Amino acid sequence: MGREIVAILDFGSQYGQLIARRVREQNVYSQICRADVTAETLSRLGVKGLIFSGGPASVYDENAPKCDEKIFRLDVPILGICYGMQLGCRILGAKVIPAQSREYGRTNLSILEKNDLFADMPDSITAWASHGDQIGDLGEDFTKLATTDTCPYAAVKHKTKKFFGVQFHPEVSHTPKGPQILKNFLYDICGCSGDWKMSDFVNETVEAVRSRVGNAQVICGLSGGVDSSVVASLIHKAIGDQLVCIFVDNGLLRKNEREHVVSTFRNHFHMDLRVVDWSKQFLSALAGVSDPQKKRKIIGAEFINAFQSEAAKIPNAKFLAQGTLYPDVIESGSKDGNPAANIKLHHNVGGLPAELGFELIEPLRDLFKDEVRVVGEYLGLPPDIIWRHPFPGPGLAVRIIGEITPQRLEILRAADEILIDELTSAGLYRKISQALAVLLPVSTVGVMGDERSYENVIAIRAVETTDFMTADFSRIPHEVLGTISNRIINEVRGVNRVVYDISSKPPATIEWE
Ligand code: XMP
Repeated sequence: MGREIVAILDFGSQYGQLIARRVREQNVYSQICRADVTAETLSRLGVKGLIFSGGPASVYDENAPKCDEKIFRLDVPILGICYGMQLGCRILGAKVIPAQSREYGRTNLSILEKNDLFADMPDSITAWASHGDQIGDLGEDFTKLATTDTCPYAAVKHKTKKFFGVQFHPEVSHTPKGPQILKNFLYDICGCSGDWKMSDFVNETVEAVRSRVGNAQVICGLSGGVDSSVVASLIHKAIGDQLVCIFVDNGLLRKNEREHVVSTFRNHFHMDLRVVDWSKQFLSALAGVSDPQKKRKIIGAEFINAFQSEAAKIPNAKFLAQGTLYPDVIESGSKDGNPAANIKLHHNVGGLPAELGFELIEPLRDLFKDEVRVVGEYLGLPPDIIWRHPFPGPGLAVRIIGEITPQRLEILRAADEILIDELTSAGLYRKISQALAVLLPVSTVGVMGDERSYENVIAIRAVETTDFMTADFSRIPHEVLGTISNRIINEVRGVNRVVYDISSKPPATIEWE
């Protein structure tokens, strides 16, 4: 018997991948398809169920995405979400109208039929809605399953076909019972048994990489962060020594970072790891530069120089492996024709331009960060890599406000090490999403012994976030802050004051530059 697949038809929702992920969480394999995928293709895939995603269009727009109507003859259960519901209902004879008031945000859903989709549910649940149109006239062939104050047909089912529609979004975390609804759909309605695991993803990816790469070599820029480490391990599992990892020492790394990466990947995993020490070039190009965006540009350009100088020594290299995750794809705008709105243009640097002439391998492109961690655990990466806070491509350069000098780098490295050490000892490191020390370009007065001092200030930043687009400062206990401050002031020469950053993002950002 083949693998169970549920296909998600993407009508341009920003939540398409989130739906896929929610299906994976129920141990069912999901595949995202274009909205216009044919019934024959779906039939060939042997899908057990279909989910129509939401989307920004109105079903009456001239260019609104449509689906192959033959899909409704496949006898495969369909769950339509928001736009997907409206499209399905319209094709099956209901009438869609603009809602009198646009329903957006949390809403209270009253459940009328507590079976199928809503089996094991209370009388009412909180649901997240975001729509302008809604069903105005259900016609004869549908049954109403749930309502909200402004939406009489918030969930419906067809009387004879296995089509279910929900006007709200079960895939987002603001619909707390969403997982149960999806579970009911996948298990009870589609009859899935839920035998898919993340290890299947690893095995399939390994096979796919092997057959794509053949005898060629693959280069992977390894930073020591979670994403590139997982990609390197995954590809190493597939092709062993055909993988060459390049680690660029830009002179802007944290203490012992380079040694740590070498000992993990070269000594422990026995990978072919080439270290390029380009720190002199980086630091001399950065000398006298204070402007953050200029720093980023210089670092981006030097990174490419460093990388190319090493890559040129690998003659059979045809592929470049990158740790792109799904949120990176969304943040840098859709490149593959998906109409999902461009959410955020990231100031990411440390990437490589397409002109390098390699074919890209991006095996984590559909995954979310926490799923990547599960893959990393399965591959046997050590916990300190799997749970590592993100570290920006430009490294400590954007945490030294103003000019970067070897002395200032040394101060910041020492402070950063103490910060991370104390957060780890206090058991807070995993609870915090990202913690950092920043060296400020001001000196303040202090007393050390009987002497007046006039020295540097270190700012500590620690945030909690799930997506890094919004974040709140972490409520670190005062005693822990006290220990961090004491240790930094006592142990780091040149610092006489430590402050804690209590801004949220927005309006502040996580980094200071
Ligand atoms: P901000 O400061 O924008 O940071 O709130 C959000 C996340 O992005 C990281 N960051 C960067 N990562 N190159 C990177 O690779 C950069 O130039 C850069 N700037 C910020 C930041 O550390 C946080 O995780």
